[in-house]
Amino acid sequence: MSIQFKRLMLIIIIALVVVALIGCVDESNGDLKEVDKSIYMNPDIAIDERVENLLSQMTLEEKIGQMTQVDRQFLKNEKEITKRNIGSILSGGGSAPEPNIPEAWVKMIHEFQSAALDTRLSIPVIYGIDAVHGNNNVYGATIFPHNIGLGATRNPQLVKDIGEITAKEVVGTGIHWTFSPCVCVAENERWGRTYESFSEDPEIVRSFTTIIEGYQGDNLNEPTSILATAKHWVGDGATLNGTDQGDAVISEEQLRTKHISPFEDAIDKGVGSIMVSFSSWNGDKLHGHKYLITDVLKDELGFTGFVVSDWAGVNQISENYSEAVRSAINAGVDMVMVPDDYTFFMETLYEEVDEERVSLARIDDAVRRILTKKYELGLFEKPYPDQSYTSSIGSKEHREVARKAVQQSLVLLKNEHNTLPLSKDIKKLFVAGDNANDIGNQSGGWTISWQGESGDITPGTTILEGIQQAVSPDTSVTFEQTGRGIDSSYDAAIIVIGETPYTEGLGDRPDFLGLEQKDIELLEKTKETGVPTVVVLVSGRPMIVTEQIESSDAFVAAWLPGTEGNGVADVLFGDLNFTGKLPMSWPRLEEQIPINIGDENYNPLFPLGFGLTY
Ligand code: GLC
Repeated sequence: MSIQFKRLMLIIIIALVVVALIGCVDESNGDLKEVDKSIYMNPDIAIDERVENLLSQMTLEEKIGQMTQVDRQFLKNEKEITKRNIGSILSGGGSAPEPNIPEAWVKMIHEFQSAALDTRLSIPVIYGIDAVHGNNNVYGATIFPHNIGLGATRNPQLVKDIGEITAKEVVGTGIHWTFSPCVCVAENERWGRTYESFSEDPEIVRSFTTIIEGYQGDNLNEPTSILATAKHWVGDGATLNGTDQGDAVISEEQLRTKHISPFEDAIDKGVGSIMVSFSSWNGDKLHGHKYLITDVLKDELGFTGFVVSDWAGVNQISENYSEAVRSAINAGVDMVMVPDDYTFFMETLYEEVDEERVSLARIDDAVRRILTKKYELGLFEKPYPDQSYTSSIGSKEHREVARKAVQQSLVLLKNEHNTLPLSKDIKKLFVAGDNANDIGNQSGGWTISWQGESGDITPGTTILEGIQQAVSPDTSVTFEQTGRGIDSSYDAAIIVIGETPYTEGLGDRPDFLGLEQKDIELLEKTKETGVPTVVVLVSGRPMIVTEQIESSDAFVAAWLPGTEGNGVADVLFGDLNFTGKLPMSWPRLEEQIPINIGDENYNPLFPLGFGLTY
């Protein structure tokens, strides 16, 4: 037999052995098998069948990759997505590409998606962002009033429309998922996230789950549909003293009737994901709470979407990271917003499964839930950004809806001597206050950056600019932020004061919710002139302003209106009447806080639902 023939025979024998090895490899977790895309990539096959087929071909590493969510800022490079089979990327507050323009977002997400499709199984990545009052991380996006202002509108249809518009502006940046709405029921104004709540009344919060229908459309795979997230599961608005990430020491009956009930509406409306709260219930961290996440949320309420942790929320369960990861996954968390050291998370979870402290069945359940939403979103068919809506970002049409929301969010708390509506033909008008001409202050937290900030941070119309546009050409408008120069020669004064931006725990005010001294002094100075004065409070919550209300002629709660500050002038000058109603009880004294409808001896300065009209 010639040498060539012997070599050929040897090669054939080796090839046969290799094929035999591949064929006999354990298929339980799909190691090394040749990928068969004929079913899971076929859009004509039912989603559940595609999910099972894909799952059957996945290795444990690939499954854990789907459960891993990383903030874009912590990715060494997008190739890591391929190398680690990362299933989800997010932008935490302010985590934006440079330059922060829609086209750069689209480019970034296109690159991430390419890297994801370069993996063995080509599973698309799902990108999430806090689009909580518009696509608020993105410069130039339409910024709507925060939820507390939307709660004052008592207009669920308008809020559904806002969801639809926000979804278009999110899709326009190539993103498929928003961590919104917050359906928390804020009981204590000291909480820095009060403005993210629609109301202290769960029935009002439930009515605004319409925004989920706006985000998700009739079908998740519509071009302008994005996945919504009801958050934060559960009881984050009930913590002692309103401490962010604190402990809700309440009965199960209170938890269910007040804090779980809005999630039931969210589930009824098909919400695709639910985010776990940082807070605790009677001392037990929600992130490790199997009874509430699995027994109640998934089994009893029948939630079939996926549960995502909050930002490194898993870490808070235990100082022992293995224990923390095990606890969260076994409690029912499906996707972990790591968001930074993703390698460590993946290795830790791998070991927990390998050591049989987390079952493969639990992993498969989590991955099944995640893949199902990716399929429903149409990501397997349309993984790349659809730029049809990029030009709609910040459009005039969208801003008009935001302006309408501002108009309907305003609550008139006092109007003596019919000070309001002001005449557009007023001769001399004085405007002052730190929040009169500041887009950043009127937008609040979660705007461009995580905490938001004062200043001209994104295109919009300040409250002052709205006033200047509203009055007649013959009106003289004097703007002096500090009030310098105000005197009795003016026909009226509009003083716009309140809070500067904050987000989450940095907005907690454990012992003082009054105005800053400079604002108090500005109001006193204006009062001394005898000029009819309209106070506009721009804040994320009711504040202790009892004295200031008594000494003003008219007083308006404007909440955090966002970029369309002209909506305020529309009502101050009578183009429209006030229609807003308080979504929260307004405390008379610091000592009254927390004060909520239904309390014994309920005696607020203004009750839930209060609002004057012309
Ligand atoms: C934050 C918030 C949560 C947000 C997440 C991602 O800490 O608690 O509401 O969706 O992190 O930014």
